[in-house]
Amino acid sequence: MEIEISDDATELGKAAARLAAQVIRQSIGKKGYASLVLATGTSQFETLNYLIQEKIEWSRIIAFHLDEYIGLPEASAASFRKYIKERFLEKVTPLKEIHLINGQANPWKECERLGDLLKKRPVDLALVGIGENGHLGFNDPPADFETSEPFIVVRLDERCRQQQLDEGWFKSFEEVPDRAITMSVWQILQSEKIICSVPESRKAKAVKDCFENSISCWHPASILQSHQQCYCFLDKSSAALLRRPGFKVHERF
Ligand code: GLP
Repeated sequence: MEIEISDDATELGKAAARLAAQVIRQSIGKKGYASLVLATGTSQFETLNYLIQEKIEWSRIIAFHLDEYIGLPEASAASFRKYIKERFLEKVTPLKEIHLINGQANPWKECERLGDLLKKRPVDLALVGIGENGHLGFNDPPADFETSEPFIVVRLDERCRQQQLDEGWFKSFEEVPDRAITMSVWQILQSEKIICSVPESRKAKAVKDCFENSISCWHPASILQSHQQCYCFLDKSSAALLRRPGFKVHERF
Protein backbone atom coordinates (compact mmCIF):
# COMPACT_ATOMS: atom_id res chain seq x y z
CA MET A 1 0.00 0.00 0.00
CA GLU A 2 1.26 3.48 -0.82
CA ILE A 3 0.08 6.76 0.64
CA GLU A 4 0.02 10.26 -0.79
CA ILE A 5 -0.88 13.22 1.38
CA SER A 6 -2.28 16.29 -0.41
CA ASP A 7 -2.83 19.75 1.05
CA ASP A 8 -6.60 19.58 0.92
CA ALA A 9 -9.57 17.63 -0.41
CA THR A 10 -9.45 19.34 -3.81
CA GLU A 11 -5.79 18.47 -4.38
CA LEU A 12 -6.52 14.95 -3.13
CA GLY A 13 -9.30 14.60 -5.69
CA LYS A 14 -7.07 15.81 -8.50
CA ALA A 15 -4.27 13.40 -7.57
CA ALA A 16 -6.57 10.39 -7.13
CA ALA A 17 -8.39 11.12 -10.41
CA ARG A 18 -5.11 11.56 -12.28
CA LEU A 19 -3.90 8.15 -11.15
CA ALA A 20 -7.31 6.55 -11.78
CA ALA A 21 -7.33 7.90 -15.34
CA GLN A 22 -3.82 6.54 -15.92
CA VAL A 23 -4.85 3.07 -14.71
CA ILE A 24 -8.04 3.16 -16.80
CA ARG A 25 -6.19 4.19 -19.97
CA GLN A 26 -3.62 1.44 -19.38
CA SER A 27 -6.33 -1.22 -19.06
CA ILE A 28 -8.10 0.04 -22.18
CA GLY A 29 -4.76 -0.03 -24.01
CA LYS A 30 -4.11 -3.62 -22.91
CA LYS A 31 -7.47 -5.30 -23.38
CA GLY A 32 -9.79 -2.80 -25.06
CA TYR A 33 -11.87 -1.98 -22.01
CA ALA A 34 -11.58 -1.28 -18.29
CA SER A 35 -13.72 -2.61 -15.48
CA LEU A 36 -14.24 -0.23 -12.57
CA VAL A 37 -15.89 -0.25 -9.17
CA LEU A 38 -17.38 3.08 -8.10
CA ALA A 39 -17.85 4.07 -4.47
CA THR A 40 -20.06 6.89 -3.28
CA GLY A 41 -20.19 9.00 -0.10
CA THR A 42 -18.54 12.32 0.66
CA SER A 43 -15.05 10.85 0.29
CA GLN A 44 -15.59 10.46 -3.45
CA PHE A 45 -16.88 13.99 -4.18
CA GLU A 46 -13.60 15.47 -5.42
CA THR A 47 -12.18 12.29 -6.93
CA LEU A 48 -15.25 11.82 -9.14
CA ASN A 49 -15.42 15.52 -9.86
CA TYR A 50 -11.95 15.40 -11.41
CA LEU A 51 -12.27 11.93 -12.91
CA ILE A 52 -15.16 13.04 -15.14
CA GLN A 53 -12.88 15.77 -16.55
CA GLU A 54 -10.17 13.29 -17.61
CA LYS A 55 -9.74 12.20 -21.23
CA ILE A 56 -11.14 8.68 -21.11
CA GLU A 57 -12.96 6.62 -23.72
CA TRP A 58 -16.04 6.13 -21.55
CA SER A 59 -17.63 3.79 -24.11
CA ARG A 60 -14.91 1.30 -23.11
CA ILE A 61 -15.78 1.34 -19.40
CA ILE A 62 -17.69 -1.30 -17.49
CA ALA A 63 -18.69 0.00 -14.07
CA PHE A 64 -19.91 -1.73 -10.93
CA HIS A 65 -21.32 -0.12 -7.83
CA LEU A 66 -19.78 -0.76 -4.40
CA ASP A 67 -22.72 -0.60 -2.03
CA GLU A 68 -26.34 0.45 -1.60
CA TYR A 69 -28.94 0.66 1.18
CA ILE A 70 -31.60 -2.03 1.21
CA GLY A 71 -35.13 -0.74 0.67
CA LEU A 72 -34.23 2.86 -0.14
CA PRO A 73 -35.96 4.18 -3.28
CA GLU A 74 -33.75 5.73 -5.93
CA ALA A 75 -35.63 9.02 -5.52
CA SER A 76 -34.26 9.39 -1.96
CA ALA A 77 -31.51 12.00 -1.58
CA ALA A 78 -29.36 9.34 0.08
CA SER A 79 -29.68 6.73 -2.67
CA PHE A 80 -26.25 5.74 -3.94
CA ARG A 81 -27.52 4.84 -7.40
CA LYS A 82 -28.96 8.35 -7.62
CA TYR A 83 -25.54 9.66 -6.50
CA ILE A 84 -23.70 7.69 -9.21
CA LYS A 85 -26.17 8.78 -11.89
CA GLU A 86 -26.02 12.47 -10.92
CA ARG A 87 -22.33 12.81 -10.12
CA PHE A 88 -20.91 10.47 -12.73
CA LEU A 89 -23.11 8.87 -15.38
CA GLU A 90 -24.88 12.07 -16.43
CA LYS A 91 -21.54 13.89 -16.74
CA VAL A 92 -19.77 11.50 -19.10
CA THR A 93 -20.71 9.94 -22.43
CA PRO A 94 -22.47 6.54 -22.17
CA LEU A 95 -20.46 3.67 -20.71
CA LYS A 96 -20.10 0.22 -22.25
CA GLU A 97 -21.93 -1.27 -19.25
CA ILE A 98 -23.13 -0.01 -15.88
CA HIS A 99 -24.25 -2.37 -13.14
CA LEU A 100 -25.92 -0.49 -10.30
CA ILE A 101 -27.19 -2.20 -7.16
CA ASN A 102 -30.97 -2.13 -6.90
CA GLY A 103 -31.57 -1.81 -3.17
CA GLN A 104 -35.27 -2.47 -3.65
CA ALA A 105 -34.86 -5.84 -5.33
CA ASN A 106 -34.75 -9.09 -3.35
CA PRO A 107 -31.33 -8.50 -1.71
CA TRP A 108 -30.02 -12.06 -1.96
CA LYS A 109 -31.06 -12.39 -5.61
CA GLU A 110 -29.49 -9.00 -6.30
CA CYS A 111 -26.20 -10.17 -4.73
CA GLU A 112 -26.31 -13.28 -6.91
CA ARG A 113 -27.10 -11.30 -10.07
CA LEU A 114 -24.22 -8.88 -9.54
CA GLY A 115 -21.84 -11.63 -8.46
CA ASP A 116 -22.48 -13.51 -11.72
CA LEU A 117 -21.77 -10.38 -13.74
CA LEU A 118 -18.55 -9.72 -11.82
CA LYS A 119 -17.19 -13.22 -12.38
CA LYS A 120 -16.98 -12.55 -16.10
CA ARG A 121 -15.60 -9.02 -15.71
CA PRO A 122 -12.56 -8.98 -13.40
CA VAL A 123 -12.08 -5.56 -11.88
CA ASP A 124 -9.12 -3.45 -13.01
CA LEU A 125 -9.67 -0.60 -10.60
CA ALA A 126 -11.75 -0.08 -7.48
CA LEU A 127 -12.34 3.42 -6.17
CA VAL A 128 -13.08 3.21 -2.46
CA GLY A 129 -13.27 5.36 0.66
CA ILE A 130 -13.07 4.73 4.39
CA GLY A 131 -15.89 5.52 6.81
CA GLU A 132 -15.50 7.17 10.21
CA ASN A 133 -15.79 3.69 11.71
CA GLY A 134 -13.08 2.37 9.38
CA HIS A 135 -15.54 0.61 7.08
CA LEU A 136 -14.68 -0.41 3.55
CA GLY A 137 -17.76 -0.30 1.34
CA PHE A 138 -20.51 -1.03 3.85
CA ASN A 139 -18.42 -3.68 5.61
CA ASP A 140 -18.72 -2.24 9.11
CA PRO A 141 -16.64 -3.60 12.01
CA PRO A 142 -16.29 -6.47 12.71
CA ALA A 143 -16.12 -7.02 8.95
CA ASP A 144 -16.34 -10.46 7.40
CA PHE A 145 -12.83 -11.09 6.04
CA GLU A 146 -13.63 -14.73 5.25
CA THR A 147 -16.50 -14.84 2.81
CA SER A 148 -15.67 -15.07 -0.87
CA GLU A 149 -19.22 -14.22 -1.92
CA PRO A 150 -18.80 -11.20 -4.21
CA PHE A 151 -21.75 -9.22 -2.78
CA ILE A 152 -23.26 -9.69 0.67
CA VAL A 153 -26.15 -8.45 2.78
CA VAL A 154 -24.91 -6.61 5.89
CA ARG A 155 -26.28 -4.83 8.95
CA LEU A 156 -25.07 -1.27 9.38
CA ASP A 157 -23.70 -0.31 12.77
CA GLU A 158 -24.75 2.74 14.76
CA ARG A 159 -21.65 4.81 13.96
CA CYS A 160 -22.07 4.24 10.26
CA ARG A 161 -25.74 5.23 10.38
CA GLN A 162 -24.93 8.25 12.56
CA GLN A 163 -22.29 9.38 10.02
CA GLN A 164 -24.89 9.29 7.24
CA LEU A 165 -27.28 11.36 9.39
CA ASP A 166 -24.58 13.88 10.37
CA GLU A 167 -23.64 14.35 6.71
CA GLY A 168 -27.24 15.39 6.03
CA TRP A 169 -28.32 12.54 3.77
CA PHE A 170 -31.28 11.74 6.09
CA LYS A 171 -33.58 13.79 8.35
CA SER A 172 -33.58 11.42 11.34
CA PHE A 173 -31.56 8.46 12.61
CA GLU A 174 -34.61 6.21 12.24
CA GLU A 175 -34.74 6.97 8.53
CA VAL A 176 -31.22 5.61 7.96
CA PRO A 177 -31.65 2.00 6.74
CA ASP A 178 -29.99 -0.59 8.95
CA ARG A 179 -29.24 -3.05 6.13
CA ALA A 180 -27.30 -2.76 2.90
CA ILE A 181 -25.82 -4.72 0.03
CA THR A 182 -22.08 -4.32 -0.22
CA MET A 183 -19.25 -5.75 -2.25
CA SER A 184 -17.44 -8.06 0.18
CA VAL A 185 -13.97 -7.29 1.48
CA TRP A 186 -12.61 -10.35 -0.36
CA GLN A 187 -14.10 -9.15 -3.65
CA ILE A 188 -12.74 -5.61 -3.21
CA LEU A 189 -9.28 -7.14 -2.73
CA GLN A 190 -9.61 -9.05 -6.02
CA SER A 191 -9.39 -5.70 -7.88
CA GLU A 192 -6.10 -5.39 -9.67
CA LYS A 193 -5.61 -1.86 -8.38
CA ILE A 194 -7.34 0.07 -5.62
CA ILE A 195 -7.48 3.82 -5.18
CA CYS A 196 -8.68 4.88 -1.77
CA SER A 197 -9.69 8.53 -1.27
CA VAL A 198 -10.00 9.71 2.34
CA PRO A 199 -10.30 13.46 2.99
CA GLU A 200 -11.31 15.34 6.20
CA SER A 201 -10.22 15.44 9.83
CA ARG A 202 -13.19 13.34 11.00
CA LYS A 203 -11.46 10.39 9.29
CA ALA A 204 -8.09 10.94 11.01
CA LYS A 205 -8.66 8.37 13.77
CA ALA A 206 -9.94 5.74 11.30
CA VAL A 207 -6.96 6.40 9.02
CA LYS A 208 -4.55 5.90 11.90
CA ASP A 209 -6.32 2.75 13.12
CA CYS A 210 -6.47 1.26 9.63
CA PHE A 211 -2.99 2.17 8.38
CA GLU A 212 -0.78 2.10 11.47
CA ASN A 213 -2.32 -0.78 13.42
CA SER A 214 -2.16 -4.41 12.41
CA ILE A 215 -4.83 -5.78 10.09
CA SER A 216 -8.06 -6.42 11.99
CA CYS A 217 -11.73 -6.91 11.17
CA TRP A 218 -12.39 -4.23 13.82
CA HIS A 219 -10.75 -1.71 11.45
CA PRO A 220 -12.03 -3.12 8.14
CA ALA A 221 -10.02 -0.89 5.79
CA SER A 222 -6.81 -2.12 7.49
CA ILE A 223 -7.05 -5.03 5.04
CA LEU A 224 -5.89 -2.62 2.31
CA GLN A 225 -2.40 -2.94 3.82
CA SER A 226 -2.30 -6.44 2.34
CA HIS A 227 -3.02 -5.35 -1.24
CA GLN A 228 -0.01 -5.04 -3.53
CA GLN A 229 -1.37 -2.20 -5.65
CA CYS A 230 -3.40 -0.03 -3.31
CA TYR A 231 -2.86 3.73 -3.44
CA CYS A 232 -4.33 5.80 -0.63
CA PHE A 233 -4.93 9.50 -1.05
CA LEU A 234 -5.22 11.50 2.15
CA ASP A 235 -5.30 15.21 2.86
CA LYS A 236 -3.41 16.93 5.67
CA SER A 237 -6.37 16.74 8.03
CA SER A 238 -7.17 13.05 7.52
CA ALA A 239 -3.44 12.26 7.81
CA ALA A 240 -2.96 14.41 10.93
CA LEU A 241 -2.55 11.48 13.34
CA LEU A 242 -0.18 9.44 11.15
CA ARG A 243 3.45 9.23 12.18
CA ARG A 244 4.95 8.51 8.75
CA PRO A 245 5.03 10.98 5.87
CA GLY A 246 3.38 10.35 2.50
CA PHE A 247 4.83 10.65 -0.96
CA LYS A 248 3.61 11.20 -4.50
CA VAL A 249 2.39 7.84 -5.69
CA HIS A 250 1.46 8.95 -9.20
CA GLU A 251 5.07 9.87 -9.90
CA ARG A 252 6.21 6.40 -8.89
CA PHE A 253 3.47 4.49 -10.63
C1 GLP B 1 -19.89 5.04 2.45
C2 GLP B 1 -20.31 4.47 1.12
C3 GLP B 1 -19.14 3.88 0.39
C4 GLP B 1 -17.92 4.68 0.70
C5 GLP B 1 -17.56 4.57 2.16
C6 GLP B 1 -16.70 5.70 2.64
O1 GLP B 1 -20.82 5.06 3.42
N1 GLP B 1 -21.37 3.54 1.28
O2 GLP B 1 -19.42 3.76 -0.97
O3 GLP B 1 -16.80 4.25 -0.01
O4 GLP B 1 -18.72 4.41 2.91
O5 GLP B 1 -17.36 6.52 3.47
P1 GLP B 1 -17.82 7.99 3.17
O6 GLP B 1 -19.32 8.01 3.24
O7 GLP B 1 -17.23 8.71 4.30
O8 GLP B 1 -17.32 8.39 1.85
